[in-house]
Amino acid sequence: MIGRIFLTFLLLLAAFPAPGCGPARDQGTVTLVMAGGSGAEEAFAQRQLAAFEQAHPGVRVVYQATPSSASERHTLFVTWLSSCSRDIDVLNLDVIWIPEFAAAGWLLPLDGRPETAALPLNDYLPAALASSRYRGRLYALPWFADAGLLYYRRDLYQAGGQPPPRTFRDLVAARDLQEKFRLPYGFLFQGQAYEGLVTVVLEWLWSNGGGIFDPDTPENREALAFLVDLIHRYQVAPLAVATFLEEDCRRAFEQGNALLMRNWPYAYALMNRPGSPVKGKFAVLPVVHGPRGSPVSCFGGGALGVSAYSRHPREALQLIRFLTRRDRLKARALALGMLPPLKSLYYDPELQAQFPYLKELAPVFLTARPRPISPLYSFIGDILRIHFSRALTRQETPAQALKRAEEEIARVLRRYRGAGGAP
Ligand code: GLC
Repeated sequence: MIGRIFLTFLLLLAAFPAPGCGPARDQGTVTLVMAGGSGAEEAFAQRQLAAFEQAHPGVRVVYQATPSSASERHTLFVTWLSSCSRDIDVLNLDVIWIPEFAAAGWLLPLDGRPETAALPLNDYLPAALASSRYRGRLYALPWFADAGLLYYRRDLYQAGGQPPPRTFRDLVAARDLQEKFRLPYGFLFQGQAYEGLVTVVLEWLWSNGGGIFDPDTPENREALAFLVDLIHRYQVAPLAVATFLEEDCRRAFEQGNALLMRNWPYAYALMNRPGSPVKGKFAVLPVVHGPRGSPVSCFGGGALGVSAYSRHPREALQLIRFLTRRDRLKARALALGMLPPLKSLYYDPELQAQFPYLKELAPVFLTARPRPISPLYSFIGDILRIHFSRALTRQETPAQALKRAEEEIARVLRRYRGAGGAP
């Protein structure tokens, strides 16, 4: 009986597709839906999409802005794709999701097609290309590359006669400058229990000689304990940091309320816009490091993929190829500060003129360390964000948080290894 009702429901669905649901061919026009970031990213995307439409009469692209929290966007994409939704054709994928989505069969493999015949494979940052592949096949085209940076108020450090911080310990001295210049915040970072926190803490562990699959080591304990102490002991980072995403940090820093901030490159361009209270007053450096290591930035970024459920894979592929051509990646980097995934562009004079820090910090991008490139990454990231957050909010000691994360990660790997999920 239930089976019959379900069958009738399916037949009805097929006969009467939901209005406005999914790309439709309307009087010869193909409509693609592209899901990506919001704010400045969306505004710039609309310009490039208009150029695509002009070059491809008969194809219209609707832009669907999605949440800026990486973890929320992941949940949304998983909801769409696991329900085989045909509503979305092109996805702006975080580098950490591609193997997971490819393994689930949610992404169209891109190799062996005319649109991807002449990709600049040798020019992609190795981490960007490696993240876009799964079991030897390409599932996404790199779109931008991220690496964590330390932003500091150059004007205040100069006026205070202090060099900017290079080590964990140097951050403690930031308290004096914070008080001297009466700033509400010393050091800001992404502390909410989401993927951003994972990237920050991994940078701390890596920059103290630590690592991820063996989290409960002296290097890791020391690094995490120091980050917790910055909040609770030295009060250089505010308690509120445990609720901050990238944009909360960027807005506070831009309003002149913080001395230091860990963030991605996009913030550089926004904070140098005309009218920004900190325009020209800040600079960037590699992230700080601990006594047992040297600075290591976390590699991040995005790539464009085509949903396996797209009704218009050919046009969707044309669109992602169009958007990822060298000149468009460069234009996007110039406009948004989201840096390109192509090595050669890091030495481009126009980009270097717009982002002078690139001259010295290009190696930071070329050597940024990826999170595990694995279809199991979202399990690992979820475990880490929960325990890192508990450590920051003192629900677990750093040692407990690392030990529990280690045990839970080992359990996940044991359960799924052999199911093709080994990182
Ligand atoms: C940035 C990075 C991405 C990372 C996210 C965490 O968007 O590009 O890789 O997962 O931040 O918040």
